[in-house]
Amino acid sequence: MNYETYLCLDQLLTAQRPLSLQNKRPAHDEWLFITVHHTYEIWFKQILIELDSILASLSSEQVEEREMDVVVARLERVNKIFHVIAGQFDILETMTPMDFLEFRDLIFQASGFQSYQFRLLENKLGLRPGDRLVYHEKPYTSDLSPKKADEVKASESAATLFDRLDAWLARTPFLAAKEFAFWDEYKKAVEVMFQHDEKFIRDNSTLSGDEKSRLVGVVHGQRQMFVDLFNERAYDEQRARGEWRLSYRAIHAAFLIQLYRDQPIFHLPFRLITEVLNLDSHLAQWRYRHALMVKRMLGMRMGSGGSVGEKYLRETTDKHKIFEDFYKLTTFFIPRSRLPKLPDEFARQLDFAFKSGR
Ligand code: HEM
Repeated sequence: MNYETYLCLDQLLTAQRPLSLQNKRPAHDEWLFITVHHTYEIWFKQILIELDSILASLSSEQVEEREMDVVVARLERVNKIFHVIAGQFDILETMTPMDFLEFRDLIFQASGFQSYQFRLLENKLGLRPGDRLVYHEKPYTSDLSPKKADEVKASESAATLFDRLDAWLARTPFLAAKEFAFWDEYKKAVEVMFQHDEKFIRDNSTLSGDEKSRLVGVVHGQRQMFVDLFNERAYDEQRARGEWRLSYRAIHAAFLIQLYRDQPIFHLPFRLITEVLNLDSHLAQWRYRHALMVKRMLGMRMGSGGSVGEKYLRETTDKHKIFEDFYKLTTFFIPRSRLPKLPDEFARQLDFAFKSGR
């Protein structure tokens, strides 16, 4: 065993085979093009390894605190990888569009759209088939090899980070505490915030009457959405319309954890939610960065996979979000200084005593 054999360098370093060389019309930048794609795929593989381990940890009925620490650490790792790989487009952009055109015709219909690891990654995170942007009126798996298409299809109905997280949040024991009446206090504080927002709009002399009515309508809509957050039937109706995705119990847990994140028992769950938010942001940044690069390389040309190119990619940045609910909840946050005090008994329970039952 040595460095070369341990890392299988022979296989790794002979996998870059520029078609332009084989076709006797060498295009120097094709080396870079292949290297950058390979490094992405290797990082996607690492992300999938981390995700699988996270899903396995979250699959048990009762996840130990120690295990949650590992889950958060691995999510952090995934985020660091995403952060670094988004920067790799900088390297690819040292290739000019004309240098790309030197070999683009040789790639023919090969496209990142057929990256099965990227599809697995999206599915394991929780991107649902019905939420996908319809592309070329074909299933997103249609250009994969039958074996890879089966693997990707199977991942649609397998465990996802979203579902595991939802189940874990919904199981949090503090939701059952009878001191939960403190939500009523919180509702009053939020109502004050909405009244303040409405007054701010009505007193704004730079807005026309129509603009004021429209903006006040938006505030009223948000107020109703907040009220419905505490009415299971109304919430489930909103959920059925696609306005929320988290289950009724999970959304309350996510809310409480973020509001009272200073409570010792919420420290780890708060970090978990933060990492999940980061994950959605990183993926969106990756998508947007890729779309910008594609615009630079192709202008208005079609993609080699047959899409409308940059426009399709830009739209996925917005549409293919997974953990949007955690962002939406922010609408109902209030300044920390106005947070209602937790009832003493409840606060005592949250002070790491919950588990031991002290
Ligand atoms: C010159 C460089 C690149 C160009 C011009 C380009 C172009 C495109 C285009 C136009 C699409 C849309 C599908 C299609 O019609 O083909 C696409 C999708 C995709 N590309 Fe790239 N790409 C480039 C580099 C990369 C790199 C380095 C990666 C890294 C793995 C990548 C990964 C992907 C993925 C995963 C998709 C599917 C995105 C989705 O459906 O949401 N691309 N690319």
